[in-house]
Amino acid sequence: MTKVSVIGAGNVGASVAEYLAIKEIANEIVLLDIKEGYAEGKAMDLNQCATLNGYNAHLTGSTNDYSATAGSKVVVITSGIPRKPGMTREELIGTNAGIVKSVTENVLKYSPDAILVVISNPMDTMTYLCAKTSGLPKNRVIGMGGILDSARFKYRLSEAIGCNPNDLQGVVIGGHGDTTMIPLTRHASYNSTPVSQHLSAERLEQVSADTMVGGATLTKLLGTSAWYAPGAAGAALVEAIVRDGKRLMPCSVYLEGEYGQSDICIGVPVIIGANGWERVVEYDLNEEEQAKFKASADAVRNMNDALEL
Ligand code: NAI
Ligand code: 2OP
Repeated sequence: MTKVSVIGAGNVGASVAEYLAIKEIANEIVLLDIKEGYAEGKAMDLNQCATLNGYNAHLTGSTNDYSATAGSKVVVITSGIPRKPGMTREELIGTNAGIVKSVTENVLKYSPDAILVVISNPMDTMTYLCAKTSGLPKNRVIGMGGILDSARFKYRLSEAIGCNPNDLQGVVIGGHGDTTMIPLTRHASYNSTPVSQHLSAERLEQVSADTMVGGATLTKLLGTSAWYAPGAAGAALVEAIVRDGKRLMPCSVYLEGEYGQSDICIGVPVIIGANGWERVVEYDLNEEEQAKFKASADAVRNMNDALEL
């Protein structure tokens, strides 16, 4: 039996749960939300898809009762609010920090051995908060952002090259933000050929710029942030954990000197397996990429300063 809980049954949380069920990554999935009946309704709706989609996974909904999450192998945190007009960054961080902190405490009361996946924004700062306040070993706190940003990078590259996205390799590191993420265009490849062989420098610049505003582009189109790709990215991370996949994925993790940074959670390539993130993989960054990574870390650290730790 593999049990996974998802806190926040909104767009992203429900999408994570749906992919977990469809791919049978977990056979017991709990959705929890503070909105009365909301998680129960989403769970029932998804259970009614079982015979249509041919899965044998059972979903349970809970209105803020954490005993339902007891014994989870992984807990995915998506609870939080998006930034509203007139709201300062500090106010958003303050509100979401309160939510993420209390959720983390409640989760660990019932699942002390769980690996925590943080999706709530601002994700790197929320992951840092979770890492600093949960008391967990650093390997058991993982922020999801780079997996999504890398998928968006490969989507943009496939559009530009006119190829199957599954033949592409591409990684985005740094913070999960419009100005902080770093699509590693120099390292991206189309079945072992550098993408620069297929695209001009100008087109590659455009791919990089479009990737960086990937979330904002969708928010403008949808009126809220996206959920299908975020949900699929969250589920892919959970899959690598529960199946001990030893997958190399860019995730936000607590650094202690890797990539020249300490006391920060930020996106770097890590090996993901049954114990959470197992080690950081150091890419050979050139001076320009190193400078971008430092600037990204400075911006994330500046955001972390708004936390009251
Ligand atoms: P949403 O508003 O649809 O869902 C959030 C849910 O959290 C709501 O149902 C709300 O009732 C619930 N909630 C609020 N406080 C709670 C608490 N204390 N306990 C339990 N549930 C609580 O929002 P959506 O679209 O699902 O986004 C969720 C978060 O994920 C946002 O912070 C968003 O910015 C972030 N996000 C992060 C991505 C990433 O790659 N890291 C990608 C997409 C979204
Ligand atoms: C996204 O990248 C806004 O984090 C959200 O879609």
